Amino acid sequence: MKVKICPEQKEKTGDLFGIFFEDLNHAADGGLYAELVQNRSFEFCDIDHPSYHGLTAWEPLHADQPVQLRIMTGNAVSEKNPHYLSMDVQEPGEDYGIWNIGFGEGIPLKKGAVYNFCCYAKREQDRKEPIEVSLRGKDGSIYAKQEFYLEKDWKKISGQFCSAVTDSAARLAVTAKGRGKVYLDFVSLFPQDTFKGRKNGVRKDLAELLAAMHPKFMRFPGGCLIHDGALDPDARDAFYRWKNTVGPVEQRPARRNSWGYNQTLGLGFYELFQLSEDIGAKPLPVVNGGWDPHHKRAVPMDEIQPFIDDALDLIEFANGSTDTKWGAVRTEMGHPEPFGMEYLGIGNEEVGAEFFERFEVICRAVREKYPEIKIIGTASPFAAGSEFERGWDSAVKNKVDLVDEHYYMSPEWFLANHHRYDSYDRSGPGVFLGEYASWGNTWYNALVEASYMIGMEKNVPAVRLACYAPMLAHTDYVNWKPDMIWYDNHRACGSANYEVQKLFMNHLGRWELATVAEEAPQAVKKSEDQITGSILLDGNESEVEYTRICLKNEDTGETTKFADCRVGAGGPAELLTEVQTENYTLTFEAKEKQGFRGFRIYFGWQDEDNNFMWSVGGWQNQDISIFEKIKGRSSELMQALFTVEKEKSYTFCLKVRGRKVEAWADEKKYLDPVSKPVVEEPIYLSVQEKEDGKLIIKGVNVQKQPCSVTFNCPDAEDETPVSADITYLGDYEETAENSLEQPHAIIPQKKTAILPGKREFTYCFPENSITILEI
Ligand code: AHR
Repeated sequence: MKVKICPEQKEKTGDLFGIFFEDLNHAADGGLYAELVQNRSFEFCDIDHPSYHGLTAWEPLHADQPVQLRIMTGNAVSEKNPHYLSMDVQEPGEDYGIWNIGFGEGIPLKKGAVYNFCCYAKREQDRKEPIEVSLRGKDGSIYAKQEFYLEKDWKKISGQFCSAVTDSAARLAVTAKGRGKVYLDFVSLFPQDTFKGRKNGVRKDLAELLAAMHPKFMRFPGGCLIHDGALDPDARDAFYRWKNTVGPVEQRPARRNSWGYNQTLGLGFYELFQLSEDIGAKPLPVVNGGWDPHHKRAVPMDEIQPFIDDALDLIEFANGSTDTKWGAVRTEMGHPEPFGMEYLGIGNEEVGAEFFERFEVICRAVREKYPEIKIIGTASPFAAGSEFERGWDSAVKNKVDLVDEHYYMSPEWFLANHHRYDSYDRSGPGVFLGEYASWGNTWYNALVEASYMIGMEKNVPAVRLACYAPMLAHTDYVNWKPDMIWYDNHRACGSANYEVQKLFMNHLGRWELATVAEEAPQAVKKSEDQITGSILLDGNESEVEYTRICLKNEDTGETTKFADCRVGAGGPAELLTEVQTENYTLTFEAKEKQGFRGFRIYFGWQDEDNNFMWSVGGWQNQDISIFEKIKGRSSELMQALFTVEKEKSYTFCLKVRGRKVEAWADEKKYLDPVSKPVVEEPIYLSVQEKEDGKLIIKGVNVQKQPCSVTFNCPDAEDETPVSADITYLGDYEETAENSLEQPHAIIPQKKTAILPGKREFTYCFPENSITILEI
């Protein structure tokens, strides 16, 4: 295969690849945020999680100690966090008290490391007696301890502990000598050695993994987190409102995290801006647009001002001078210099007209006051369909700079859709692929994602920003898989996907150069031309009645009628028939009798792991979608809005024509996706130029055979041998993964090679590999 490089045709790569911090999987508390105490302000409650209460993560030191533990309300250290602990020692003793079990397996201590403790405390009586704070093993053995004397009123006590041991399952204990009530609030323990030594800082090992990527930007803080919750920022289950997350940590109100846990907001917007700066990434914050799509809560239009203010004030907080209201807050927190924010996301994958009505108003206000800010609109969590189109239409109408697309798909979908962005308009709003991943953390997932990233590089400036999602996952608290970086309380590892992201970020040239391929070998097609297999009728955790079922073979005109059936609610799906023809039409009527998630119609069913599904209703009973499952991994090909009404009879029609599908309900066409055939091209190549004139060539070979490419660079002057730095990732089983036990199972190798000359040289890209040549 020959590839001609055309250096005169080039596009800037800009800020193409970045990262996305989302607080799920305990990414903040118990993750990036270095705080070691869980439930430090005794604020946990069942709104966060049904099993939570004020003493979650705290345990009495001895089951039979004469100590009453109670959660108190009123006169706490901060009104924003109204609870605190009362530890009433009824009979004085030596070792009566409480300990915190930390996150995951416990509090991780390293021998010789220093830990900063602080706490607010007061005591009703026996103030001549001290309380003792200690680091302990699970068996109670004391590694380090200090005594503190308390007063009648709240007093901040603090101290440093040096651990005598390494123990990843330690505890922080507080015991009281003497009698009576000791009150505790905001009990905190941080390693002194945070990333860049920041106070209230982040975990060094995790931040170092991020810094090593050299991301161009960091999107934060979510994800669904920013739009799932009450509209009132003071509600305990409010969604993420950044103003709750700045200022003194004690004053930041604990909130429910919509992923089913508690967020202290200790890692707030200031810390996230600071982290972005510390790792050299541009901050890309996202604010809510006054709409919670999960609970369908919309702020009335005449009450939208606080949401407009959230956006405007955030820009002032990030960029305003020190004499502005919010610039002063930033200054007070320790950063008089502006953070240099350029991008603002409004909304996270919302669907429905309510959001876009509100988006328009917020967008206009930001445009008017801060025309230099690049506004990012949102295009639903679907790769195609009416809600995806609604997002794009709004973006074009409101002339936003970028549109946030999200999708999680099978590796096969990524191969089939490699050319997705070839047809995107390069002059309209750009694409911000704000969340994407193939389902899995194996080497094969990472390899396929690399091939897709080549497609993004080749399509700058249509694609302007992209980040893999989610970024962080604590192995003990998994809400979502796959994830880029995995960790427990003391270890961390980048997945294979992380290694790929890092490679692309560390080898991003300034310009993407055009190339022309000649004599390319045939791509390998891995799909049939038609969708054949069985048809099954089912309910989605609902009981459903199907009637007037009829299948027409469009090639022969033959029509088959089937008996009525009632399915679902845990029973088996109704197997209708096997279809081997290319073109067919299925019509039927359906009624939901019980449940609320509607209908599921499977077609092209080969087996449980390989099939197509037409879903009507879905998890929130608001979608009509076509899914394609390959090797057990599902891709939602297209979506539109649809809500099933119980006991209502619908007329449905499914037309399959080769790989094109149409889904109709009551004579209206809702969906018409094409299941693109899975294709493995001989090689996925991208050529870039660095500022210093060096060429970067990335070659991703997903096939099981090597691919030899002769590069021709007619403008290159010298024909003398040149040296190339090679970064190589390959030679792994498809299922290989990195793990906490083997964090470097998949890791790039470096080598050098001498090429005959820059004008023409040949390189052979090994099978199933990623190679980066820097020449
Ligand atoms: O990243 C996981 C979730 O996926 C995000 O919260 C949401 O934006 C998307 O649906």
